Amino acid sequence: MRIVAVMNYKGGVGKTTLTANLGAVAASRGLRVLLIDLDPQTNLTFSFFSIDDWHQSLKDNRTIRQWYDAEIPGRDTSLADLVVTPERVNKALDNTAGQLDLISSHLGLIDIDLELAARLGGTTTLDGSKRKFLDLHGCLRQALEDAHFAEYDLVLIDCAPNFGLVTKTAIVASQQILVPAKADYLSTLGLDYLVGNCAALVQQFNDFVNHKGGTRNHRPIDPGILGVVFTMVQIYSQQVTLAQHTYIEEVRLNSRVPVLESRIRNSPRHFGDAGESGVPAMLRTTGRDEVVREFHELTDEVLSALELVPGGQR
Ligand SMILES: Nc1ncnc2c1ncn2[C@@H]1O[C@H](COP(=O)(O)OP(=O)(O)OP(=O)(O)O)[C@@H](O)[C@H]1O
Ligand SMILES: [Mg+2]
Repeated sequence: MRIVAVMNYKGGVGKTTLTANLGAVAASRGLRVLLIDLDPQTNLTFSFFSIDDWHQSLKDNRTIRQWYDAEIPGRDTSLADLVVTPERVNKALDNTAGQLDLISSHLGLIDIDLELAARLGGTTTLDGSKRKFLDLHGCLRQALEDAHFAEYDLVLIDCAPNFGLVTKTAIVASQQILVPAKADYLSTLGLDYLVGNCAALVQQFNDFVNHKGGTRNHRPIDPGILGVVFTMVQIYSQQVTLAQHTYIEEVRLNSRVPVLESRIRNSPRHFGDAGESGVPAMLRTTGRDEVVREFHELTDEVLSALELVPGGQR
């Protein structure tokens, strides 16, 4: 099983669209994929469920909110009990061996983020506060180690556009971090900062793990940066526009973050009605299409970097 956090502080850069479609294309290749919606905006969840269905069957007792809502997340609810199999997308996957499951989010997750941060305080001893730090930040990682999740080839975690505690639990749980970005000044500006903050979190977590007398429940983490994937790239006459090409090259040459070869073009025709059908655009589109080709290339690149080849070694 490979766990990948899809994150960027910047909002609206295509994280959720990428998580839904990359997950769907990977499942269409025969992989068993679990998507986790960790964003209180709940957009990933609503890509697969109608708002009515979510209210009726998920809202009260099958969202990640209730899992985080315990003194130590997961104490009262098993993460495995929150997994649902969205019907429409799995119907579209019917003639493949793949599966796409989801742990849905809840708008109330925004309050949980603040409550979790408050819980970090209130311990009087240094050892106690380090243990609390590790238990809170490591909660999702520990839960995903449950045997139930071993059946998945790939877990993609859609993060909120922030670096709150819930996002940090995703980073701690992940082996790789995938960073969608737009090729513009504001989106590329924060990339090194994001990588620096991830590195600081990793160092703090590992320092606490290695601290003498530290807890036996946690092991050091080492999430890699899979890379930046540029999304909504403007293409004219088969070429990336000069302005965007300049930003992409700037990141490629001067940033600490690797840049993936694959990129996803701007295509309002495919992604404009996200959420309406319960099936990600890449599974709805038939025929030859440049953006479909790009999503398949991205899937190849990501699966190969994760050494996750359908039918091969997992
Ligand atoms: N390649 C694309 N071409 C055109 N529109 C796109 C593309 N990718 C995403 N979009 C659209 O851009 C908007 C933002 O995308 P998305 O919700 O995936 O971003 P996000 O990074 O998850 O946002 P947030 O930070 O708010 O969670 C959505 O309306 C989506 O449909
Ligand atoms: Mg999103």
